[in-house]
Amino acid sequence: MKLTIDTDRKIVVRESGGSSETVPLYSDRAFDLIAEQWVNVGWNQKYSYTFSWMGRPIIQLPEDMIRTQEVIHRVRPDVIVETGVAHGGSLIYYASLCRVLGKGRVIGIDIEIRPHNRQAIESHELGGAITLVEGGSTDPDIVAKVHGMIRPGETVLVLLDSNHTRQHVLDELEAYHDLVTPGSYIVATDGVMKDLQDTPRGRPEWVWDNPTAAAEEFAARHPEFVVEQPAWPFNESGLNRNLTHWPGAWLRRLI
Ligand SMILES: C[S@@+](CC[C@H](N)C(=O)[O-])C[C@H]1O[C@@H](n2cnc3c(N)ncnc32)[C@H](O)[C@@H]1O
Repeated sequence: MKLTIDTDRKIVVRESGGSSETVPLYSDRAFDLIAEQWVNVGWNQKYSYTFSWMGRPIIQLPEDMIRTQEVIHRVRPDVIVETGVAHGGSLIYYASLCRVLGKGRVIGIDIEIRPHNRQAIESHELGGAITLVEGGSTDPDIVAKVHGMIRPGETVLVLLDSNHTRQHVLDELEAYHDLVTPGSYIVATDGVMKDLQDTPRGRPEWVWDNPTAAAEEFAARHPEFVVEQPAWPFNESGLNRNLTHWPGAWLRRLI
């Protein structure tokens, strides 16, 4: 695919497989075409490794966090479960939203929680809202332990951000989906991998081995869930697509 951004003629040209599309530079379509490349190049350049939230590194694209905030504000979960803690920035982010909303706690699961990360998360001013669970996210003992931490009737949101292979994400979806309450979501993050196989940091097998594929397969097996980008609560533009590392990630529980 060849993308030409001609700022003199104020057009964007996309050429692929012998066909060509020309659109005005200042158009929603041009924004989507340019944004797609911005996301892919930014992923390779580790743009998402440049942010922190209240002192802790958060390895996310800011739009994904703002969209997650929109969902948390609407769903008002009692419990947010996330697999994949790393430095803890995303847990602190969710905990800060819970604090402002006046409800909610956070459970973070990671196969390895390094002592300095645990210390920083637990001693953080929001650490009291966070419980860390160390172990493989699909290990039956860990799955049972997390289930035991949820009380009957609690509203639960689950985000999967650990190992991003299709099979692991599928296993996580099977392990945790029953916690999700109707109207809430289980989120298979980082499906952008499917579009990154030919980037310098990508891998060829990511075309099929990715979280988006897992979410689609899970939804086909579970009619109580639907893959659905959460509606934007505010939009005075003509745009409608998330600029995201999480394409096809949001599985909403219907019943
Ligand atoms: C992308 S990082 C998480 C980033 C974090 N959610 C944030 O937004 O800053 C992925 C984490 O998943 C963890 N991980 C990898 N495989 C895992 C598994 N099988 N079970 C649980 N955690 C795993 C890694 O140790 C790593 O800390």
